[in-house]
Amino acid sequence: MTSSPAPVIAVDGPSGTGKGTLCVRLARRLGWHFLDSGALYRVVAALAERSGLSPGDGPRLGRLAATLDIAFREVHGGIRVHCNNEDLTEVVRTESCGAAASKVAALPEVRAALLVVQKGFRRAPGLVADGRDMGTVVFPDARLKVFLTASPEARAERRYNQLKQQGINVRLATLRQDIGERDVRDSARTVSPLRPATDAVVVDTSDLGIDAVFERVLCLVSDRDAGGG
Ligand code: C5P
Repeated sequence: MTSSPAPVIAVDGPSGTGKGTLCVRLARRLGWHFLDSGALYRVVAALAERSGLSPGDGPRLGRLAATLDIAFREVHGGIRVHCNNEDLTEVVRTESCGAAASKVAALPEVRAALLVVQKGFRRAPGLVADGRDMGTVVFPDARLKVFLTASPEARAERRYNQLKQQGINVRLATLRQDIGERDVRDSARTVSPLRPATDAVVVDTSDLGIDAVFERVLCLVSDRDAGGG
C-alpha cells in the first residue's frame, strides 16, 4: 500500500508581497516544514560567484545545484539558511545576491537540479512552500495554492522597511527599479515563468497588513481541510 504524499501549501508571487513572513508564520502555526525556494537560487548564485563560475554556465551551475545540502533552521525566532553545514544567511540576503539569483534561475539546468532538491523538502506532517513556481511546477498537486500580488510601490516600500530593519541601507528608488527589472526577468523567462496556477487563490496584499493576510490564508486552509475546494 502506498501512502499519500505529505500535503503542501504553495505560496507564490513576486518579491515584496509578504510571502516569506506569511509562510514562516503558517509553517509555525501548522507545525509543518518550510521551504524558501528563493534561498536555494540565492545559494546557487552565491556559491557560483565564490567559485568564479560564470553566471551563464548552465551545465556547471546545474551540477553545483545538484550537490547542495540545504537546511532552514529556526534560531531565536529567525530563519537561518545553512548549506553543506555553513551558515549562508547573511551572504544570500543581499539585494545583489537576489539579482544574481534571478539570473541563474533562468537556466534550465539549475531549475531541473533544484526541482529534485525542492521535492525533497516534502515531508510529513506537511510543507509550506514559498516561491514563484511552487503551485505551477514543483508541487502541482498542492492542497492549497495561494498567489500573492501587490502594487510595485507597495512591494518596494515593504522591502525597503525590511532591509532597513536588518540594518541594510538602500535607496527606495533603486529598490523600485530592481524590483521592476527582476519582475520582467521572472515573468518573461521560458522555463517556469512567474504566473499564478489556474487553481490558485489570488490575494492582493497592497493594502493588507501581514496579520490580515495570515488570517485570510488560514481561513483558506481551514476551508480546504473541511473539504471545500
Ligand atoms: O524569493 P527570492 O527573492 O529570494 O528569490 C530570488 C530569485 O530567485 C527570484 O527573483 C527568482 O528569479 C528566483 N526564484 C525562482 N523560482 C522560485 C523562487 C525564486 O525563479 N521558486
